[in-house]
Amino acid sequence: MRALTQLGTLEATASFEKLMSTPKMATKDLSVFYGDSQVLKDVCIEIPRNAITVIMGPSGCGKSTFLKTLNRMVELVEEAKVVGHVFLEDLDIYAPGVNAVEIRKRVGMVFQKPNPLPMSIFDNVAYPLRIHGIRDRKVLEDRVKKCLEVVKLWEEVKDRLREPASKLSGGQQQRLCIARALALEPEVLLLDEPTSSLDPISTEAIEELLLELKKNYTIVMVTHEVAQAKRVADYVIFLYLGLVVEQGPAKEVFYYPKSDLTKKFLQGF
Ligand SMILES: Nc1ncnc2c1ncn2[C@@H]1O[C@H](COP(=O)(O)OP(=O)(O)OP(=O)(O)O)[C@@H](O)[C@H]1O
Ligand SMILES: [Mg+2]
Repeated sequence: MRALTQLGTLEATASFEKLMSTPKMATKDLSVFYGDSQVLKDVCIEIPRNAITVIMGPSGCGKSTFLKTLNRMVELVEEAKVVGHVFLEDLDIYAPGVNAVEIRKRVGMVFQKPNPLPMSIFDNVAYPLRIHGIRDRKVLEDRVKKCLEVVKLWEEVKDRLREPASKLSGGQQQRLCIARALALEPEVLLLDEPTSSLDPISTEAIEELLLELKKNYTIVMVTHEVAQAKRVADYVIFLYLGLVVEQGPAKEVFYYPKSDLTKKFLQGF
């Protein structure tokens, strides 16, 4: 029995080491201020590649802010100030001379509420490609089709590509937004509570999609739902009042949380 337990511990350690051997992203002493108010405090985390990292924590603890630091979208908030480092591979994305647009191309984002652009289904996915100078119709058609296939929307929309995206259901719109985020072939996909406005069937479809996407992408997702986190997370970061209270492989954080705050949150207090 003891030998078996030791074997289990060894296996867990080995899989953890494999997960974290070369993280895709990392932050070091990352702080964010909105005016005088500090909402992230010296955050040091690692994000494993080809895995789903889930960010959890109570409302207002800084989850969305943290997510937006990972592709410099936080800079679009006028009063925001970022101190510290965010690494994408070896690149410090806040270093002088780094182009934020280029970072947002490598690190795509999907928001809580599906936000299709007021244009056709086709144009929604083609839009970021056109913005980046791709004009060739054949190339656009191929890329749009590929992205819609990846998010499993192609069969549902292939005969109505010119219809307004607003005619799609909420779940279809969110898959369209993921397709749009994938159009520029990012390496990392950030999702801020992507299923919170969706019904259980659409939620399941998105979760299945994320589990498939992680083979090719690094995924970071904010969720309020412990049950959802348990279904999809490989790695968990628990934030509380802007501080990282706990981070680790999902099984460890869910089943052997170290912090009382994490325990209480997982129990629903
Ligand atoms: N643009 C802003 N200006 C000033 N304060 C802000 C701004 N955006 C967020 N905040 C504050 O920063 C803190 C963290 O907000 P954030 O949206 O990151 O939290 P969250 O964990 O995502 O919350 P929720 O679970 O409710 O989405 C909150 O106190 C919030 O009021
Ligand atoms: Mg939020």
